[in-house]
Amino acid sequence: MAAGDTAKASSLKDFHARSIADREGFWAEQAALIDWHQPFGRVLDDSRPPFARWFLGGRTNLCHNAVDRHLAAQRDAPALIHVSTETDTERVYTFGELHREVMRMAAVMRSLGVRRGDRVLIYMPMIPEAAFAMLACARIGAIHSVVFGGFASHSLASRIDDASPVLVVSADAGSRAGKVVPYKPLLDVALELARSKPASVLMVDRGLVPFDRKPGRDHDYAPLRERHLDADVPVEWLESNEVSYTLYTSGTTGTPKGVQRDVGGYAVALAASMKYIFCGNAGETYFSTSDIGWVVGHSYIVYGPLIAGMATLMYEGTPLRPDPGILWRLVEKYRVTVMFSAPTAIRVLKKQDPSWLTRYDLSSLRALFLAGEPLDEPTARWIGEGLGKPVIDNYWQTETGWPILSVAHGIEKTPTRLGSPGMPMYGYDLRLLHEQTGEEVGVNEKGVVAIVPPLPPGCMQTVWGNDERFVQTYFSTVPGRLVYSTFDWGIRDPDGYFFILGRTDDVINVAGHRLGTREIEESLSSHPAVAECAVVGVADALKGQVATAFVVLKDPSQAASDDARLALEGQLMATVDQQLGAVARPSRVHFVTLLPKTRSGKVLRRSIQALCEARDPGDLTTIEDPSALEQVRQAVGARV
Ligand code: PRX
Repeated sequence: MAAGDTAKASSLKDFHARSIADREGFWAEQAALIDWHQPFGRVLDDSRPPFARWFLGGRTNLCHNAVDRHLAAQRDAPALIHVSTETDTERVYTFGELHREVMRMAAVMRSLGVRRGDRVLIYMPMIPEAAFAMLACARIGAIHSVVFGGFASHSLASRIDDASPVLVVSADAGSRAGKVVPYKPLLDVALELARSKPASVLMVDRGLVPFDRKPGRDHDYAPLRERHLDADVPVEWLESNEVSYTLYTSGTTGTPKGVQRDVGGYAVALAASMKYIFCGNAGETYFSTSDIGWVVGHSYIVYGPLIAGMATLMYEGTPLRPDPGILWRLVEKYRVTVMFSAPTAIRVLKKQDPSWLTRYDLSSLRALFLAGEPLDEPTARWIGEGLGKPVIDNYWQTETGWPILSVAHGIEKTPTRLGSPGMPMYGYDLRLLHEQTGEEVGVNEKGVVAIVPPLPPGCMQTVWGNDERFVQTYFSTVPGRLVYSTFDWGIRDPDGYFFILGRTDDVINVAGHRLGTREIEESLSSHPAVAECAVVGVADALKGQVATAFVVLKDPSQAASDDARLALEGQLMATVDQQLGAVARPSRVHFVTLLPKTRSGKVLRRSIQALCEARDPGDLTTIEDPSALEQVRQAVGARV
């Protein structure tokens, strides 16, 4: 049976049931959606749970599937559409041109000594060269690790140390809302801080800001590209389970984890998701407003749409500049059929004149997909009615690489339900488990969203360089059961729709950016005035959540006056800006003389958070000193 034939005859529930009952048969069929240089033998090896290996012995390549295989039929069709409203540039690369640029970049990387299996760290703004660099790595079998351009030196250094790259690819600067953000000084500090020293740094000079070059280490891309204009770099055929990339993400501890992904499983999972979930067809245009520094950028700016033979629109800019119609003007201009964004972007637009939604011809657009944070009902309704298009929420994680919950209109036109990201996608054996007992909870009962292994193709293989951390972190939280924890609370209604109720751990979600409160606490604690601190996520009408910090000073008299408090708050925010990046900056820093803790010394973050959100702080029987909570209450002016 050809790939996908199963879909025609079945409902989403049947499709899902088969994907679990006959994993190997199901995924063997999906594997026909991509090109294999050498066919795989076994479909799945899960003999060492919770590790799963997919399509064993098969040889393929992500870059081949994203670019080369479309050359025959689509050489002159658009592949990468780059739009920057920051620099007022627009450029369309056909598949033929993309192929050339990727080979040039690959040749430059090779000339700098990059070999198969080497790591290349990409710290770049949303420019075409960032996509070329990712695809070039995939082509030559190097492992890319993209670090979000909004992260600063400290975050960057810890990622450099973990990945030990031979090469860093960067640019002079990014630009946000008209403000140039220099990258090179941050990178230079990071390279000073890092113990691991990459041999080379490849710099794309956009001409936005001058930068220093370290002789022998730093190379300009433009002259090297000139030298390799006619480069012909064949793809490396990689075994399906070789590593394609690592992408760092935050969790409970202060050290980010390198989510490691394979080659074949990822390609198959993305191809299947483009067909069944996003319903995108070759020759059409896909537009995701995300950033290549996040998982959505990996799966649904670069690899997914290109694997499907679609043009992908890569956008550097905000939803509001030059005016709040910019996203829709791009949909009209490039005949976008599938669009992907985050609820925060829509909430930003919601503050503008709604007529911006109807000024352009959106007839090409079939659906707007939203993910990354909870989609509140008013926002979903506003954008759905304003555009007159289906809005499809989807829930997933950096770890999974593609949606866990959604509706799959390529299989069945299941209706969406406001407030719910939908139902389990094929391949995920999803359960809701009681936090303490590990038992499955009933309909309408809250539980931890968990996945029974093996994780489907495309999901993380392990934590980079640390199998034990993979098992410990993700598979050891539900007592007595080897199941993957998403660290999200969920609930299921009688019709099988899931609802996500927030995190079970200390991860917060600011404007769709996933941040660990521990990282922010560590950064604040590095300030010499700070004795200890606690950071919590507080509900925010625009960003979903914002970070709020409570700081105990070594010398409380330093915060005696309003002026002193304000000055110190500014200093602490600047510390986070410099170390982690503005994305992690707390929106408020409150000074207290004591943090609410249990008698065993655990900070009562959930109670602090509750007070910040004017909710009941919950069970306080174990609190060491109730006056600490009183201080929090006063600081935030709570009346609970
Ligand atoms: O808490 C969930 C929330 O974002 C987390 C994953 O974030 P990240 O690793 O950055 O991956 C984003 C991929 C889209 C989840 O554990 N989250 C993501 N999507 C949703 C969501 N919460 C509610 N609804 C969603 N649709």
